[in-house]
Amino acid sequence: MEIRTDIKLGDCKKILKTLPDNSVDLIFTSPPYADQRKSTYGGIHPDKYVAWFLPISEELLRVLKPSGTFVLNIKEKVVKGERSTYVMELIIAMRKQGWLWTEEFIWHKKNAFPGKWSNRFRDSWERLLQFNKNKKFNMYQEEVMVPMGDWAKTRLKNLSETDKKRDESKVGSGFGKNISNWLDRKMAYPTNVLHLATECNNKNHSAAFPEALPEWFIKLFTRQEDVVLDPFMGSGTTNFVAQRMNRNSIGIEILPEYYNMVKEQLVPTQLILLESEGEYEATEHKGHHAVR
Ligand SMILES: C[S@@+](CC[C@H](N)C(=O)[O-])C[C@H]1O[C@@H](n2cnc3c(N)ncnc32)[C@H](O)[C@@H]1O
Repeated sequence: MEIRTDIKLGDCKKILKTLPDNSVDLIFTSPPYADQRKSTYGGIHPDKYVAWFLPISEELLRVLKPSGTFVLNIKEKVVKGERSTYVMELIIAMRKQGWLWTEEFIWHKKNAFPGKWSNRFRDSWERLLQFNKNKKFNMYQEEVMVPMGDWAKTRLKNLSETDKKRDESKVGSGFGKNISNWLDRKMAYPTNVLHLATECNNKNHSAAFPEALPEWFIKLFTRQEDVVLDPFMGSGTTNFVAQRMNRNSIGIEILPEYYNMVKEQLVPTQLILLESEGEYEATEHKGHHAVR
């Protein structure tokens, strides 16, 4: 199996135009958040965020396969004591653009810094917005199942025997029936809340997300040899995880310092790829996903 990691330097708004239609299985990304301050990678004013993002999401809609998924990690900032509404405005604008807003996952940051603010508590979660082109998309739910744990012992302790025996509840909710299905199972489907610690000091990027975050969504929405795209690559977390999981990937980064950092780390793989360039071209014709 030959896995390709293709990284590109430049503005994703332009570079995305060079990717073919319907060629990507999963887009997983964390764009710069709206910010009034000038930050390390250039903030976009909250009022201009939607207008800035829409031409990019239009290209993402074009390059995503009809069976694919787009997961957007984003969180609105507090501006002058109030939460911005640009994420909500962005969701509405993207729906008008043709996206289906399928789901919202929460990343609960288990190790958020302690602190004191006059009118709120510390921020310990971020959104992961799931968008699709179609109601039917690839989703491999069994890949992210979790051990049932003590849930069955504690939660089911209070249920009556009738409830456990597939009894239809009087209000027709089907609660008893649903619960009884899970009585003897060892594994359950997870919730839409991911409890993950942030990873500090292990990346040379101020906004890197933990590897477990792309890993979970790559497992859920792709198979080996599929194509994963991160248009705001940063330190390349999505691409390195994709490579480790035998997925092809594309990363786009506007800042040369981050692009070069990722490129240096990718060198051994690229050398292997260069040696077998001819072979790779051949595999493209055999139905492998082309990313160029
Ligand atoms: C929040 S960071 C992504 C961090 C990444 N997930 C990681 O784990 O390292 C956003 C990145 O997008 C880059 N960026 C900002 N605008 C861009 C654009 N128009 N095209 C491509 N990259 C861009 C920034 O330089 C920054 O590295």
